[in-house]
Amino acid sequence: MNEQSRRPRQQGKPYRRPKKDPVRVLAFDALRAVDERDAYANLVLPPLLRKAREKDDFDGRDAALATELVYGTLRRQGTYDAIIAACVDRPLREVDPPVLDVLSLGAHQLLGTRIPTHAAVSATVDLARVVLGDGRAKFVNAVLRKISRQDLDSWIEQVAPPYEDDAEDHLAVVHSHPRWIVSALWDSLGGGRAGIEDLLAADNERPEVTLVARPGRATADDILGALDAESALPGRWSPYAVRMSEGGEPGAVDAVREGRAGVQDEGSQLVAIALANAPLDGPDKAWLDGCAGPGGKAAMLAGLAAERGAVLLASEKQPHRAGLVAKALAGNPGPYQVIAADGTRPPWRSGTFDRVLMDVPCTGLGALRRRPEARWRRRPADLDGFAPLQRGLLRTALDSVRVGGVVGYATCSPHLAETRAVVDDVLKQQKGELLDARPLFPGVPALGDGPDVQLWPHLHGTDAMYLALIRRTG
Ligand SMILES: C[S@@+](CC[C@H](N)C(=O)[O-])C[C@H]1O[C@@H](n2cnc3c(N)ncnc32)[C@H](O)[C@@H]1O
Repeated sequence: MNEQSRRPRQQGKPYRRPKKDPVRVLAFDALRAVDERDAYANLVLPPLLRKAREKDDFDGRDAALATELVYGTLRRQGTYDAIIAACVDRPLREVDPPVLDVLSLGAHQLLGTRIPTHAAVSATVDLARVVLGDGRAKFVNAVLRKISRQDLDSWIEQVAPPYEDDAEDHLAVVHSHPRWIVSALWDSLGGGRAGIEDLLAADNERPEVTLVARPGRATADDILGALDAESALPGRWSPYAVRMSEGGEPGAVDAVREGRAGVQDEGSQLVAIALANAPLDGPDKAWLDGCAGPGGKAAMLAGLAAERGAVLLASEKQPHRAGLVAKALAGNPGPYQVIAADGTRPPWRSGTFDRVLMDVPCTGLGALRRRPEARWRRRPADLDGFAPLQRGLLRTALDSVRVGGVVGYATCSPHLAETRAVVDDVLKQQKGELLDARPLFPGVPALGDGPDVQLWPHLHGTDAMYLALIRRTG
């Protein structure tokens, strides 16, 4: 006899077996994996979806809903936590994590989707009965009914501190970011309330999937021609980019399957193109990508180098990631080499290269829209962890390039401690001059005062990539 069948029924209320809804059970499983195993949502979801789709009753629409529930719940977790906290009579840390996950899933359906209120509550309570048991489902029911009495705007007005009292705390609750990240993004972006609100809101949007036609192997027109006009658009800024419309499957595109194209944010494409086009006196034969894994920018650089008669050395510390680089570069029209090496103790001689890209490991605060759980995992102390490595790798880059050659220092974080602070510190010890990178982003607006370039999701539709171009002068 299981626990449920032993439970006495309430008079006049016949026992109703909960509906086992595969979409919500899958979303719950994914959230538990993220919470319990520190899994990444973008890695944990695809196998769960694949397994579910092997069953006839789980179709593409179910997969889209499950994805939206997981990503949306994780992104908006900060806002939902504040609302749930106002509806329970104990501190959130005393609520069991699986119960909190079910409540957050319910809150997202009620406040962040168009699912009708009654359906959101009953589907979530059914989920609670399946995964938590009847007793805790009652608690879930009571909390969700409280949440459902107001819409998101009214809740925010109730739970967020007024902007005038504490602007960063207000924005943290409204836009569901940790306060320290709001503060760091605002420091880097500058300006007033409108800009930072737009940026934080953009972090909560689902990003487009962008493809890159790898130079010398495919063109954006080839890819656009092979897809119908409704499923793809040209890139906004990169001549190699193709933007897929919602629900587009990169794996269904021949050029992607054949390795002639890949999935790559337009910001990353622009960084690689800018380094390749930076003005250079003298030879332009030897290029280095010193942090190449998994190979997105290296594949672009290798193609661009081939067009110029140059050779790319793609180096990556982690051997398995070096393997991914080799896979991305296979089929490149010109010569290249892939090695596994620690960029802080390089095996090549000083002054070997004409162009060097150092796309260093960083907090990834510029790609929060892609990794919905990342903002809750990152800690300010992570910056201290990356700081020596970022400086060491930039020092290597400046040492590896010949005098007169150009280094591109890139991050997918706009945090000033990972961008300008690193460049300024290293240039105090090594000889180099900053080049104005902005003209190398033709047609891209709002690039600030230079000489470095910071891209932004809300202004450019890209990840917040950073690029400083430095010419070695001594
Ligand atoms: C931001 S990722 C690079 C992304 C890559 N440029 C792309 O576009 O696909 C940073 C890479 O640096 C590698 N890395 C970390 N420490 C390194 C080191 N000491 N030397 C070389 N590579 C390192 C990481 O394994 C990671 O693959």
